[in-house]
Amino acid sequence: MSAPAARGPIVTIDGPAAVGKTTVGRMLAESLGYLCLDSGLFYRAVALGTVRAGGDPDSPDDALAAAQALRLRFGPDPSGRFAARTFDGACDITEALISPEVDRTVSLVSRIREVRAAMLEPQREALREGNIVALGRDIGTVVCPEADLKIYLDASPDVRAQRRWKERRDAGGQMDIADIRENLHARDRIDSQRSIAPLQAAPDAVIISTDDATPGEVVGAIRAAMAARGLIRGG
Ligand code: DC
Repeated sequence: MSAPAARGPIVTIDGPAAVGKTTVGRMLAESLGYLCLDSGLFYRAVALGTVRAGGDPDSPDDALAAAQALRLRFGPDPSGRFAARTFDGACDITEALISPEVDRTVSLVSRIREVRAAMLEPQREALREGNIVALGRDIGTVVCPEADLKIYLDASPDVRAQRRWKERRDAGGQMDIADIRENLHARDRIDSQRSIAPLQAAPDAVIISTDDATPGEVVGAIRAAMAARGLIRGG
């Protein structure tokens, strides 16, 4: 089935933390000339705002106040294609969004109903024109059930912990792998057990394991699925 004429194709990639969504999503977007939208940044920005305001990330009032105060904006990387920098108003918050403090608190704010409601419209607005790869936990199930192709990535906890550790180390951080494994485990539990928009594969999602596949191989599999649906020519 081809994409509706009014907009370009939308490909969603959902899955647990550190499964490879960002790496695969950016590579895929680059190969297609699409934008890549990482919806986790919306929730990370709310967690950061809550903590910086001295609020409680478990409090709907505090987290919603932070969500409403956000003036989130994404800046391109030098290629102009990715939302590589994130701003709150004029303030560049890119590095702060991957701090251990945000890692610890983001699942708490993102299970709050009012926060999710406040983040829905900005995400849908960002997807409006299509030609986009959107990453998250509930993009194919809640934010954009009408997406042209839904991918769900999965990988074992050990592989994900290794990847996150390496990613943080490459970004200049120093974290113990046991702490990372514990944080991922805690987030998986909160993200998949929450009552609103829990992490789960959409019934019509293509499920891909990234345990033994390189990012290039996963991108190849997604492109093949796009071609099979007539969204692109070839694979
Ligand atoms: O993808 P990430 O690790 O940056 O996501 C951070 C957190 O944000 C994750 O633990 C759950 C939440 N999140 C969400 O609830 N819904 C999304 N669509 C994306 C992220």
